[in-house]
Amino acid sequence: MSPPSGQRRRVGVLISGRGSNMASLIEAAQDPAFPAEIAVVISNRPGAPGLARAEAVGIATETIDHKVFGDRASFETALGDGLARHGVEFVCLAGFMRIFTDPFAERWVGRMLNIHPSLLPSFKGLHPHRQALGAGVRIHGCTVHFVVPELDAGPIVAQAAVPVLAGDSEDTLAGRVLAEEHRLYPLGLRLVAEGAARLERGRTVYADGAATTLGLRPDAR
Ligand code: GRF
Repeated sequence: MSPPSGQRRRVGVLISGRGSNMASLIEAAQDPAFPAEIAVVISNRPGAPGLARAEAVGIATETIDHKVFGDRASFETALGDGLARHGVEFVCLAGFMRIFTDPFAERWVGRMLNIHPSLLPSFKGLHPHRQALGAGVRIHGCTVHFVVPELDAGPIVAQAAVPVLAGDSEDTLAGRVLAEEHRLYPLGLRLVAEGAARLERGRTVYADGAATTLGLRPDAR
């Protein structure tokens, strides 16, 4: 399925750190058939390693340092201006470590995605792998979801599961989940950018064929 307008959707990726999920989105978008292009990468942390990774492949970057703003709302105004400068229609949070005010999150509802390294609604917030090991779950994973004002609580777009293995540390478990994140986030963005997954009345609604895009059985939801 191609984007409704026949145009590729312009995506802004927000990062705070190394940017490996950002890199997986950039790589997916290098395929001209992918329904989105990465218009800009914005970091709230000066010198975040992901910025150099994006610049190395010719993607526009900006740094909007939250520390130079007096409050959250003025930081978000600058962020909104940065996204507008690049004509951004959809936003992907990729290791972006700031929490939005409700009005900013609401402005982007249905057009902003996040990836969280757990099978939501389990293990929201910080240290999800530590939480998973502590809870003794046997299956862990990652979730792409629409962003809503409440942290890690938005409607789910896509999930992938990994086993928790005997002897796992936070690091080994994080590595196994991260490999799935890199596969899943481009698939989630693809669905949303082409209109095959939409947020309607607080729920994710899928078009026919969305499950197949995700590599699931056709009747999966
Ligand atoms: C990823 O595990 C992501 O799910 C989480 O923070 C980590 C960021 O990694 N929100 P990277 O910057 O994408 O490499």
